[in-house]
Amino acid sequence: MVGVMQSPAEDLIGRAARDLLGAKYAIALTGAGISTESGIPDFRGPSGVWTRDPGAESRAYRSYDRFIADPKKWWEERLSAPSVLGDLSSVAPNEGHFALVELEELGLLQSVLTQNVDGLHEIAGTKHLIEYHGSFLKLRCVGCGARFARDDYDLEKLKEEGKLPPACSRCGGMIKTDGVMFGEPIPEDVARLSVAEARRCDLMLVCGTSAVVYPFADLPRIARSRGKSVTIVEINAEPTPLTNEGISDYLVQGKTGIILPRIVAEVKRLKT
Ligand code: APR
Repeated sequence: MVGVMQSPAEDLIGRAARDLLGAKYAIALTGAGISTESGIPDFRGPSGVWTRDPGAESRAYRSYDRFIADPKKWWEERLSAPSVLGDLSSVAPNEGHFALVELEELGLLQSVLTQNVDGLHEIAGTKHLIEYHGSFLKLRCVGCGARFARDDYDLEKLKEEGKLPPACSRCGGMIKTDGVMFGEPIPEDVARLSVAEARRCDLMLVCGTSAVVYPFADLPRIARSRGKSVTIVEINAEPTPLTNEGISDYLVQGKTGIILPRIVAEVKRLKT
């Protein structure tokens, strides 16, 4: 049969699989788009949280200022208001998360740097994970930077006793949610590790992010500044500034929950 005309995406899936097999140090960057197939809305996609409620976005921009101004009031409001992402306690990883776990288990992916706070990469089994914007499952001391599981503190009891914000059990400093708010500095450890990964990788997958929020969106640009020694592959439902500015080498357009497993399947086919 004359060569089957493959769809552009098929060609690019094969190309991404070959790039992964040829890479010495591949990493993956992810955003809210990888979690939409788990039922968690993204922010700027067609039905994103900010798309549907621009007021929520402008309120979010002031959240850190409100925390600094009155941590007790901020905590009381936080414990009574639902997350903009909805109830995260019952969501589960999807095929996109599991595909990245499989690449890590195959030794083809060295780390995942996520903007997501939903904890799904950790739940899926990713071992080398950098939660760039923190995790809703954790708390963090603004004094010493120590992180705690959310359940390490009885927040409702502290609220009833008027003892919010929680006091760090290590240094006595003020504890906040681990999630990084707009205007809040990225925790130093996470910032340093992420830049090191962007400088070290020779392949960067950028999955499910609009790449418009900084400083995370700097990471592909740091990689690109190293010239053609790095291949940057986007896997996203739509083109982004990384696509349009030629920061990424190519975009495999579509759903991460479909494309990533197909890349893994192609990797395994090529490895046999
Ligand atoms: N597969 C692939 N791409 C998807 C999918 C999917 N199933 N669903 C959505 N997308 C794409 C959207 O089209 C969009 O380009 O993922 C991207 C998600 O972009 P955003 O909603 O802006 O999310 P993100 O890039 O993670 O936002 C960064 O902004 O509000 C802050 O702190 C928040 O961490 C977040 C940061």
